[in-house]
Formats: sequence, C-alpha cells, structure tokens
Amino acid sequence: MIRPLIAGNWKLHNTTRQAEVLIMELRELVKGVDLPEIAIAPPFTAMHHLSHLVAGSPIKLCAQDVFWEKSGAFTGEISAEMLRDVGCEYVIVGHSERRATFHETDEVVNKKLLAALREGLKPIFCIGETLEEREMEETLSVVKRQLNEGLKGVLDGQMKDVVIAYEPIWAIGTGRAATPEQAEDVHNAVRNYLYDIFGLEPARGTRILYGGSVKPENIDSLMAQPNIDGALVGGASLKAPDFARIIRFQHT
Ligand code: 13P
Repeated sequence: MIRPLIAGNWKLHNTTRQAEVLIMELRELVKGVDLPEIAIAPPFTAMHHLSHLVAGSPIKLCAQDVFWEKSGAFTGEISAEMLRDVGCEYVIVGHSERRATFHETDEVVNKKLLAALREGLKPIFCIGETLEEREMEETLSVVKRQLNEGLKGVLDGQMKDVVIAYEPIWAIGTGRAATPEQAEDVHNAVRNYLYDIFGLEPARGTRILYGGSVKPENIDSLMAQPNIDGALVGGASLKAPDFARIIRFQHT
C-alpha cells in the first residue's frame, strides 16, 4: 500500500515568529500520527528556524520552489543543495501560481524537477487545467502534456522520489474543490499514463495528491478514492486544527 502524504503549502504567509507559533501548535495536534507522511512548505525565510522546531516530530520540510543551477550569478535564486542544507526533503515544482504569475513553462518546470532529483530532494510536481480548459474538455490532454514535458529525462528508478499533485486551477483558493469523482477520473488517467511511460512498479508506487480547496469537510471523501494518495493543502494548512484534522482523515 502507498503511504499517503499530506502537504501544506503556506504560500506567501507567515513571518518566522508566526511560523513558529503555527508549527508548535501543529506539533501538539499531530502527536502519535503515523499513517500519512506530513510535510509543510513555509517561506524560505522560516525554513532554517523551523528545521529545529520539527526535529523529532513527524513533520517534514518542503520548499515552495527551487532554481535549477547549483550556483552562480543568479540573483534571488535558491539551489537544491541550499534547500537540503536547511533540512528540506521535499520541494514543490510547477505550482500553477508560478506557472501563471512567474511565467514558468513546462521546460522550466522540467529543469527544476531534474535539479531537485539530482540533489536528492523529492519533487512534488503540480499539474492541472484551467476552468476554460475543463469546459473545452481538454483536461486530460493538458495534464498529459504537463506530465510528458515535466517528466522528460526522469529515469524509471527515480520515480520513487517523485510525487504528483493534481491541482485543478479553478479549485485553488476558490472554496470549490473538485468532486471526489472528478478528481479520481484525472488521478486514474495520470496513473495509467505513468504506466505507459514508466511501467507497472512506478505507476503503482507513485503518490498522486489532490490539491484545490481541500478542507476538513471534504478530505475523507477525497481520500476514499482509490487513486488519491494524499493532499496538497493551501489555505486550510494555515490553521493548525484544520490541517491536523485533514492529516487525521478517516480511512474507509
Ligand atoms: P487551497 O487549498 O487554498 O485551495 O490551495 C491549494 C494549493 O494551491 C496548494 O498548493
């Protein structure tokens, strides 16, 4: 059985002090949790401080982005090695907000994903369609293109470190999550596609997370779907009790 992963993406929220308060509250609430893996993606500025505060807890650290070069004249960028240095295990690549606001192309996302793997970070690779694309019935062709381009050059054996996050853009921050059935349809297609590219083991073993308005109220029905292996949570990860309830989803 795949071990689920519940990851919280804090986005542009929390100073170091605020991050400390939130993580200490969360630590208390997730004591004794062992089924899902838990990761949080704070802003870079809080990462080092949080690495001390999560030590000895089940909470892992995840970055929200990474640059693909190791070092050099790239003002403002952060390398995968620097992220490892502050205790990061996961990194989000290809989030739709970075694709839209910072014009990240599939090619850029692929470079970031390969750089993360090269340095021993586990990428959480985001894919997902716009509302317009869904209405035009282009969802599956869009996510297949994103998978095909984003996973270029990834070896079969590296897939054990890759996590896919299906985040329909129309569901992010809108309060309107995909229904469990809508999400499952796409997750099932993603797994079939992974089978076509990488074969049985990687297709079976790769975690496919759902993201987009995940809340305490909808996590149980989402996690009941056979191909949903966890969640990437935005807004609800900023409130410790809500995020802890999501982590403690009810198994069916
Ligand atoms: P919300 O949970 O706020 O919709 O955000 C989802 C997301 O973008 C996580 O990466």
